[in-house]
Amino acid sequence: MPTSIVILAAGQGKRMHSDLPKVLQPLGGRCLLEHVVVTAAGLPDARLHVVYGHGGERVRQSLDHLDVEWIEQAEQLGTGHAVAQALPTIPDDDIVLVLYGDVPLVRAETMAALSAAADGALALLTTRLDDPAGYGRIVRDDAGAIVRIVEDKDATAAERALDEVNTGLMAAPAVLLRAWVDRLDADNAQREYYLTDVIAMAVAEGVTVTGITAPPDEVLGVNDRFQLSVAEAVLRERSAMALMTAGVTLRDPQRIDVRGELTCGRDVMIDVNCVFEGKVHLADGVHIGPNCILRDTTVGAGTEILPNSLLDGADIGASCRIGPFARLRPEARLADEVHVGNFVEVKKSDIGRGSKANHLTYIGDTSVGSGVNVGAGTITCNYDGVNKHRTVIGDGAFIGSDTQLVAPVTVGAGATVGAGSTITKDVPADELAISRARQTIVKGWKRPEKKRT
Ligand code: UD1
Ligand code: CA
Repeated sequence: MPTSIVILAAGQGKRMHSDLPKVLQPLGGRCLLEHVVVTAAGLPDARLHVVYGHGGERVRQSLDHLDVEWIEQAEQLGTGHAVAQALPTIPDDDIVLVLYGDVPLVRAETMAALSAAADGALALLTTRLDDPAGYGRIVRDDAGAIVRIVEDKDATAAERALDEVNTGLMAAPAVLLRAWVDRLDADNAQREYYLTDVIAMAVAEGVTVTGITAPPDEVLGVNDRFQLSVAEAVLRERSAMALMTAGVTLRDPQRIDVRGELTCGRDVMIDVNCVFEGKVHLADGVHIGPNCILRDTTVGAGTEILPNSLLDGADIGASCRIGPFARLRPEARLADEVHVGNFVEVKKSDIGRGSKANHLTYIGDTSVGSGVNVGAGTITCNYDGVNKHRTVIGDGAFIGSDTQLVAPVTVGAGATVGAGSTITKDVPADELAISRARQTIVKGWKRPEKKRT
């Protein structure tokens, strides 16, 4: 059955104490609302509606790329009022599934189960909490059927003792929901139109109310920074479990952060405190040392990334050795068997097969051939203060230590540059270029000595 998904995202989130609207707070590389939208978008035959209010324009702008219908709720008069804003555009024979922009970890299967259970019925997602304080409690009759929900602020002492709580997520046929929502009033402690009051209406009309129970971590609502950190921990555990199930070795599953999409081949090993952002792919047998950060990067089979390396927008071949303390910046493209060592920075450069830059070097806007040796302390001077220029180093060239290559400049294949040179003119293939001052020996020279008085 077609499902209209209504995501409530108009609340301010006072307890975050933030200038950022709550649903835009980051969690695992996406904002809270985007988690909900991305999961919901996976349901078959679903249309998405987001009810926004607080920080409205900012919310819309940051999530402009998502395929949803935006509905403004100018005044936040309660969850029932919020759903009412979306209902006019929803066809009668749809199932309406209500989700929340600040409940980001609900699984697609749970959403689907809820909407499937709402065929001619009201389906409600509940959970059991050790400490249910603050939540609406589920009141059941002696036969175990759901009778109503009572909000914490409106509950009696006996009702407060109930540990089954309303997650707020529910689904119902549009035609029924519309009739119920039309009849809501704000006669309660918060003077709000409570969506939860529709449960009692369903019960009164003899409509079945089906409860589906989810584990607490899946329905966790984010209201403050602590709950945000708990949600982050849940995501961390989920992604670590998924990686290990797929055959990746994690030295410590609690010390890896995947803030994006990480895909791995066979026998990949990831040491502690690594962060993965954006799209990262690690091919078979890749080893990542401790304290590495990889963003939008692909790493070829058998390559080893040594500790404390930072790889951003890089494309790395097979059997390379990178780091420790290497920095690869966007458009660093390394062929197979390349070595990039400590304190080496590579930006917008191609490095050919088997080439090495092992120590203290900057390679920017450069094309390095294969089998090149770049000595310690080499710098491509790619920037004249206004424009960037390219350096070309041919196959098999040898660049001596402490060389500056002032771009635009070409070092021919097989050429050698003597250590300590400043190269401003092209070096022909197979020749030696040296630009440093010649060494002289001053015979008999004496160091000055302090005179005694
Ligand atoms: C709601 C439920 C409660 C449940 C709890 C779970 C009601 C009346 N109560 O309480 O039973 O245990 O969620 O977290 O539904 N929102 C709008 N517009 C509004 C009001 C709220 O978009 O006018 C959005 C908020 O941004 C938030 C969500 O709806 O994402 C929940 O609203 P909130 O006021 O926090 O409800 P709770 O008091 O938490
Ligand atoms: Ca409230």
